[in-house]
Order: sequence, then C-alpha cells, then structure tokens
Amino acid sequence: MTMAINWRIEIFDTLESTQKFIKDRAASGEAEGLVVQAREQSGGKGRYGREWVSPKGNLYLSILLKPECAASEAAQFSFVAALAVSAAIDEYIKDRSLKFLKWPNDVFLDGKKCAGILLETELDKKGNVEWLVLGVGVNIVSAPDIGVAVQDYADKGIDLEGFRDNLLKQLSFYKTKEFQEIRALWLERAHEPGTKLQIKLGESVEAGYFHDIDENGNLLLRIDGGDIQMITAGDVYVIGS
Ligand code: BTN
Repeated sequence: MTMAINWRIEIFDTLESTQKFIKDRAASGEAEGLVVQAREQSGGKGRYGREWVSPKGNLYLSILLKPECAASEAAQFSFVAALAVSAAIDEYIKDRSLKFLKWPNDVFLDGKKCAGILLETELDKKGNVEWLVLGVGVNIVSAPDIGVAVQDYADKGIDLEGFRDNLLKQLSFYKTKEFQEIRALWLERAHEPGTKLQIKLGESVEAGYFHDIDENGNLLLRIDGGDIQMITAGDVYVIGS
C-alpha cells in the first residue's frame, strides 16, 4: 500500500455499469489506476446483485487497483474507500453528528445511506489478489426513498468533478496507510460501540451490539450473554443504541 497512483480517468455519458466495464478492462490486462466514470448507468449494480439506481447528477465510479495482497486482506480496501468518500463529504458537510459509517462500507447521512461501495476481486492461482475494483456510488443530488442526497445537507453547491477529484485524492491518501490506522480512523467515524445491529445473510438473521472490527475488517458483534461473534458478510441494519 505505498506507491502514489496517477489516476487515469475515463468519462462516459452512459454505461450499463462502470463496474462491468472496468472488470472487462482489468481482465484484458489494464494497469492499476484506471478510473471509469459514467454520468448515468442503465444497469448499475449494488451489493448482493441488487440494482443501484443511477440517474444523471450523481457520482458513479469504478477504480482499478492491484494491491499485491492476499485475498483475506482485500476487504480492507472497502474501509479505505468508505473513509475516502466520507472525507470527501466533509468538505460540504461540517456537522460530524450527521455522518456515520456503517459496516462494512456504507456512508450514512442523517440516518440514511448516501453512498455505497462495491468491492470485487480477481484472484490468481495462488489465491492472491490479481486485481481489485472499487465501485463507488454517491447520491450527490438525488437518492431513492431509502437514501439521501449529499447536496440536501451541504453548505454549498457540489461540483461533481470536484467531488470526484477530491475523493480520488482522499483515496490516494488513505490507501498508503496500514490497516491498523485505517481501522482506528474508520472506528472514529462508525456507529458507536453498543449500537444495536441486525445482520441478515440469506435466511439467517443475527442481532447484537456493535463491539469492534478485527484486524481483517470482520465485524465483531456482542450477543446477549456477552459472547463475541465474528461476522464476515451480511447486510447490516442499525436498530438503535
Ligand atoms: C452498494 O450496494 O451499497 C454498493 C453500490 C455500488 C454502486 C456503484 S456505482 C459505480 C459502480 N458501478 C456499478 O454498477 N456499481 C458501482
């Protein structure tokens, strides 16, 4: 996680999905640092194959990285990306109490999601990361009913390209840091320890209280009785404190 990156930004009016586009380029041997932006997406993808509604005016980016790490370390990059998005939002919204990060990588504003991150990897034969794509969607001017737009809370008008460039600058900054530090910075911005969470994965539902994240970014949940349960994946709902 050390070298500075020269981002190469390609912008399209419409793509089905920047994620799909960049993964095709990665599979053809594209070098690290490609950033693909679409002004709108006709088939934007969220986590777990969900739709990411992508009208004009919001930010849709996919970013290609080649971090030379083990598969188990790849998830760390979604925390790096969440921090970068959150820091980019800081320029427009100063009130820290409005903002929090939700495990593993959602950015919340006033209790609703304003940005999501989709991390996808390709592994080599040894099980190491060959390439990694960070898909970032930020609701800048509009959002579906379950979300919010950053502009609605901002102190000034948001310029999409300015926001993107700052986000990439923040990403360059955070990606040089060891995960130990990323973890601490993420925790500073995350839901408070003790926040009641519900985690859904397929048919299974776990409930408990946010305790911590471990050295790989797994969620540590304190369940009734005091035991700590490690959660590696799932949809998290904040129930309260
Ligand atoms: C989530 O479900 O929270 C992740 C949403 C990720 C959306 C972004 S928008 C840019 C990139 N292209 C896609 O199709 N998805 C990601």
